[in-house]
Amino acid sequence: MKGITVAMRINRFLLKLLRYKIDWINIPPEAKKCVLLFAPHTSMLDFVIGKMSLTAMGVKTVFLIKKEVFFFPLGQLLRALGGMPIDRKHVRKFPLFVTNLIVNSDEIAFLVAPEGTRKRTCEWKRGFYFIAQQARVPIVLGYLDYVSRRGGVGHAVWPSGNMDADIAEMQKYYYGLHGRNKGMFHLEEKPYAHPEWLTDKQKEKVMQTIGIEAYMPPIAGREIVFATHNLHKKEEAQAILGCRFVIKSLHDLNFHEEISETADTLKGNAWQKARFAYEKFGCSCFADDTGLEVEALDGAPGVYSARYAGESCSYADNVQKLLMAMNGIENRKACFKTVIAFILDGNEYFFEGKIEGEITLAPRGNHGFGYDSVFQPIGEIRTFAELSDSEKNSMSHRGMALRALSKFLLTAI
Ligand code: IMP
Repeated sequence: MKGITVAMRINRFLLKLLRYKIDWINIPPEAKKCVLLFAPHTSMLDFVIGKMSLTAMGVKTVFLIKKEVFFFPLGQLLRALGGMPIDRKHVRKFPLFVTNLIVNSDEIAFLVAPEGTRKRTCEWKRGFYFIAQQARVPIVLGYLDYVSRRGGVGHAVWPSGNMDADIAEMQKYYYGLHGRNKGMFHLEEKPYAHPEWLTDKQKEKVMQTIGIEAYMPPIAGREIVFATHNLHKKEEAQAILGCRFVIKSLHDLNFHEEISETADTLKGNAWQKARFAYEKFGCSCFADDTGLEVEALDGAPGVYSARYAGESCSYADNVQKLLMAMNGIENRKACFKTVIAFILDGNEYFFEGKIEGEITLAPRGNHGFGYDSVFQPIGEIRTFAELSDSEKNSMSHRGMALRALSKFLLTAI
């Protein structure tokens, strides 16, 4: 989604001619790798204009479509747009196929119409939810609305495991929106959820017909402090906790001092930092502590991972010291562990994540930070530093702990 391509320009121009407004400013970072819902879907035109809107925004999508329509020249066009032919005889295999497709892609927005049909239906299909859960990606809410003549991509929702509640919450985002065929979208009779999208004239019309319900995302803009100076970590947390929360780092709060970590366990250090931030800033906050534990080194560097090569050492110094210590050692098993301490209204909660892997013989890759270039997770042939951010987030120790925190936040706040 970087830079404005020719395809984006052409689609923006065409949509302007058709009098559509496209919101390409507020695309959540999660749209890079997600299950992307598209609703309402009441006619082929909804899909065509919706797809044009996504292209105009720079969101590249992949979608499944019955193989019978892949004849010349429509087939070529559909393929160019991200369409993949499917044989509806094998419908049971689709979820697994799509899950693998997502897991094995760096960037992919898998487009799905939750209604599953262009006819009126009061039930959404559930397959998209299972796919997102299995592939460990968020569900992002894409829309095209004929009332406001606006298309865009709303916030991201991480499946909490409570499918009915999550889907009911997602549906609220689509309240009052209309597809091209009136009466075909079962949520269109609900009070319109996004008055801010409407002109005064449109608002008047909506008030006369369906009414307006000011929609608030479940926890709109709620701020949570992440007691860290590390920008990588803040971005990772923001991507996982989603747009329902605004994550503020210590840097964002203009606090540049180091918080002391003097405990001899990860949990102790995480607690110490979270408690400090809670007392200092007085709001919900969390802190994490991570350690790399190498089996052949009796769990070292462990809780001392940051300062393994001495006070104020660099990441490169640590990696070099580790490789020296591992020189000639055959057992290269290691794991990353993260503990998150979260403080809400004075109460403390802890979440953990762990990933097993091994220490490589030499550094590989240049993404990430810390020991990423020498840690290769089990089942991977690449090191953390050779994975994309979203790939690493989907399996990493901190990703796991953050997802546990995210699940907790869904019910706790
Ligand atoms: P912290 O407690 O998260 O600051 O982690 C302590 C040290 O572990 C860091 O200074 C890094 O060297 C290392 N570390 C933490 N998380 C990661 C990771 O995701 N990849 C690689 N190294 C990490």
